[in-house]
Amino acid sequence: MKTFLTLSLAALIATTTTTVSANEAEDGHTHTNDHEHGHKCACDAITYDFDIDCANTQAMTDALARLQAGQCASNCNNFACEKDWLIVQTHHDHCPEDGIPVAIENGFHDYDGVCSSCDIVRQEIPGAPQCPTVNCTDGSGNLAFQRLLTKSCNSQCSETDCKDDWLTLRVAHDFCENGALSQSSEEGLHALEEPCANFQCNLPLDQIANTLECSPEDLKQAHDDHGDDHADHDASPNMAPGGSGNGDGFDMGSAGVTNLALGAVALFMNLLVAALF
Ligand SMILES: *[C@@H]1O[C@H](CO)[C@@H](O)[C@H](O)[C@H]1NC(C)=O
Repeated sequence: MKTFLTLSLAALIATTTTTVSANEAEDGHTHTNDHEHGHKCACDAITYDFDIDCANTQAMTDALARLQAGQCASNCNNFACEKDWLIVQTHHDHCPEDGIPVAIENGFHDYDGVCSSCDIVRQEIPGAPQCPTVNCTDGSGNLAFQRLLTKSCNSQCSETDCKDDWLTLRVAHDFCENGALSQSSEEGLHALEEPCANFQCNLPLDQIANTLECSPEDLKQAHDDHGDDHADHDASPNMAPGGSGNGDGFDMGSAGVTNLALGAVALFMNLLVAALF
């Protein structure tokens, strides 16, 4: 009996391990996205209990005000700060840009290097073409930014000279991992947003459709990630705040995340066995 149990448990863990690895390998190929281990905003909205509603600008500005009052820019590691940041970041990243209050656009950058972000893509812009494919590792976003500067696209964003580079920069900013763009490209993008506002694009529609869905597996992943994040901070309170620039504050690298995920799975299995027997 004992042998049988042990074998079953080993098989279970092996199965789960394989699944986690397979998912991660698949992610590496298919996503051009920031947050490879993916805790989706759609799941965080459930976990933290908030609505994703692009029409509700009041909820966005209220959340930003609470971030400021709560001094979350110096320490984001508590539930209230995390929730308000996720409200701000989710809407900032998902909603049509011209519907986002200017205060959110500006205030966003006080927190994006300190608080942990979730994974969501921009809503479909009706009638916009599909975005160009951007290589996130060959510096093409930075090159595009350099050409935009050279051609003074910040004063006159023309279709012939600027459109393609602008969309490349936009995609690199929105969908590549941290580090794909230099700090000057990240910041310089914002000076181009207004002059180049006529040129927009959509990610593949299946990615957009998927962004607001939270499957049970996604939800479990989100819970594990958040739990681990807290544990990590508790264990080393002097750790520097993670992240720089626009992306993911969970700065452990995907190997670390995988190990944590596996640890969580193993812990779960132990608890299951303890509960059953
Ligand atoms: C991106 O560019 C690098 C360097 O040129 C190249 O090695 C890599 O294969 C490219 N990646 C994709 C997905 O095209």
